[in-house]
Amino acid sequence: MESNQQFETQAIRAQIERSQYKEHSAPIYLTSSFIFDTAEEMRDAFNDQNDAFIYSRYSNPNVNEFVNKVCLLEGGEAGVAYGSGMAAIYTTFMALLKSGDHIVSCSSVFGATHTLLTKYFIKINITHSYFSYDNPDSVENLIKPETRFIYIETPTNPAINLLDLKHIAQIAKRNNVLLIVDNCFASPYLQQPIKFGADLVIHSATKYMDGQGRVLGGVVVGKKALINEIYLFGRITGPSLSPYNAWTLSKSLETLSIRMERHSQSALYVATALEKETEIENVSYPFLASHPQYQLAKKQMRLGGGILTITLKDYEAAKQFMNNLKMIKISPNLGDVRSIATHPASSTHCKLTEEERLSVGIAPSLVRLSIGLENADDILNDILQALKSKS
Ligand SMILES: Cc1ncc(COP(=O)(O)O)c(C=O)c1O
Repeated sequence: MESNQQFETQAIRAQIERSQYKEHSAPIYLTSSFIFDTAEEMRDAFNDQNDAFIYSRYSNPNVNEFVNKVCLLEGGEAGVAYGSGMAAIYTTFMALLKSGDHIVSCSSVFGATHTLLTKYFIKINITHSYFSYDNPDSVENLIKPETRFIYIETPTNPAINLLDLKHIAQIAKRNNVLLIVDNCFASPYLQQPIKFGADLVIHSATKYMDGQGRVLGGVVVGKKALINEIYLFGRITGPSLSPYNAWTLSKSLETLSIRMERHSQSALYVATALEKETEIENVSYPFLASHPQYQLAKKQMRLGGGILTITLKDYEAAKQFMNNLKMIKISPNLGDVRSIATHPASSTHCKLTEEERLSVGIAPSLVRLSIGLENADDILNDILQALKSKS
């Protein structure tokens, strides 16, 4: 693989070695284990003396192809992939932390990540301190001797707030802690946190990486020494990505750039049109000039991405709007070719208290829209009819 190739080329051309059949497109290696010609070869594989495949809980050609591609696209030295985004987050945290350690995290994180921190890690004495996205300078005061890393998402799910990657990375370096970024909303095509100084980047590959709402997956890339620790923990505990899902995700990455271009173009078109609608109190989209962090978005993102939120009058109006949608379906997923509407307060973030939700910008009147790849006018028209319909 030539390292001077551009993003689009790497996303297509990074491929595992061809088999003796000289296939053009990589085949699926659906096998739980691999064979060895001699007992010595198997012994050496188990003792890290060669890099032969052993067992698909450890690694597999399709998983390797997917991981290598994400490393190229994100600029990571090494990577590991798991069965879902949450498996990637959990495995990373468990591999890098021990009882007594502390995390400084932005309070605007995915609902399940919040539950992991507040309900489960507490049980094993791994504590956290939250900072608000609009007060990044408080991070420095929250760092303690036991702090291992700073954890952030940008843009945040679902409120579409941004964190300044360069600024947070500088704070992390100055205080000798790691920076871990969940880059799921942007995808590597729009934003590469490692370039700004992040140590590890995590993705729910279920979202834009698959992009077609088919498979679950998660991936972590970054510094080799950290990835090795995560790999060793994952190899023992088994949150593995299936070869079939890895193959699907690797194929999907081939079209990531053009999908992200179109998602972003249509989302900006819809967001701009919705700003004029009187039924909507606020439209939040990073590349709208009205977004409070528009300048930061321009600085660290190539385009605005496919997600926007609208704030309606109240919960009743939000419910009515969602129930009136005809083409766009109600679902918790995002980053699909099909446009999706989600009500975060009653679904993805329902485990937060009302107070916690409000503090991270999740009002009962907020609806998250994942703008798909249907015709942009068809998407807009469905949203407009749902807003105007009185039933
Ligand atoms: C920002 C973010 N991180 C992590 C996850 C978890 O990913 P998965 O559903 O693949 O476990 C999600 C899922 O929606 C997400 O939006």
